[in-house]
Amino acid sequence: MSYPADRPRRLRRTNALRGLVAETRLHPADLVQPLFVREGLDEPRPIACMPGQVQHTRDSVRKAAAAAARAGVGGLLVFGIPEAKDRDGRGAWDEHGITQLALADIAAEVGDETVVIGDVNLDEYTEHGHVGVLDAGGDVDNDATLRAYAEVAVAQATAGAHMVAPSGMMDGQVGAIRAALDRAGHQRVPILAYAAKYDSAFYGPFRDAVESRLVGTRSTHQQDPANLRESLREVLLDVEEGADMVMVKPAGLYLDVVRRVADLVNVPVVAYQVSGEYAAIEAAAERGWLNRDRAIRESLVAIRRAGAGSVVTYWATEVAEQLPG
Ligand code: PBG
Repeated sequence: MSYPADRPRRLRRTNALRGLVAETRLHPADLVQPLFVREGLDEPRPIACMPGQVQHTRDSVRKAAAAAARAGVGGLLVFGIPEAKDRDGRGAWDEHGITQLALADIAAEVGDETVVIGDVNLDEYTEHGHVGVLDAGGDVDNDATLRAYAEVAVAQATAGAHMVAPSGMMDGQVGAIRAALDRAGHQRVPILAYAAKYDSAFYGPFRDAVESRLVGTRSTHQQDPANLRESLREVLLDVEEGADMVMVKPAGLYLDVVRRVADLVNVPVVAYQVSGEYAAIEAAAERGWLNRDRAIRESLVAIRRAGAGSVVTYWATEVAEQLPG
């Protein structure tokens, strides 16, 4: 007689057995690579708190985009950093603004090999670092900001973005952008809505990466990390307003939100593994406290397992290059 009767270890014995029964796999096409491009640079400039990531020049970002596309990465999310910022973030919709120039270059470089996505926001372009136009009291003016986002989205689509991703958490942003895109003849450009975006400490390294010196707080528009039901409301509103895809952000600390959103809606769900998630693993690995490659893979598989169809991650190209195509 043999005991125990159930031996789950039988299916874990070899790599082949484990591969056969794996429920979640990473594929290059499921990964989206964020890229930073800074106006006026002669050389790519390393981002200190995001080891391995750089502010690209216009030339180097084109090459990074080509490398990502070659590795089979599903999408590129482009962030432009202007030389000069101003009160209303006007460069964000200037046809000669760095984001538009880079989107045009990248779209020409990669063709239809990967999806070129513009992040629709003003925070890289405002001197105060807020995501929109401020009212007299210093809070972000929702409806004035919607008008600016409509301009930004049209400028990005006109420059060649295949998709736009509004990230400012203004009420009504998806509807306003959809209407503006349609009016401008961009009916075919999809919207990836940052639908459930939390007011997270884990965006810290990103703000250094885009040289944003935020004065004040994002908590009047980004969500309280304490809330889940609020995310479901935000997601449903965005889908109703015309979002083609929805995003949860950050990812790793919000896997419960990813799962609930994936169960709730029938549009594709994306999760954004943000700069602080990246920096935390890189920093621990640098000290020898974590096995870097295993930690990266595990963090990505967990996000996919929670229900995200795709993952925005600063490791996208690196991981894609190691995966079977
Ligand atoms: C807004 C935007 C931010 C991030 C992506 N889009 C910053 C913010 O909302 O403060 C953060 C991404 C990250 O931390 O990796 N442009």
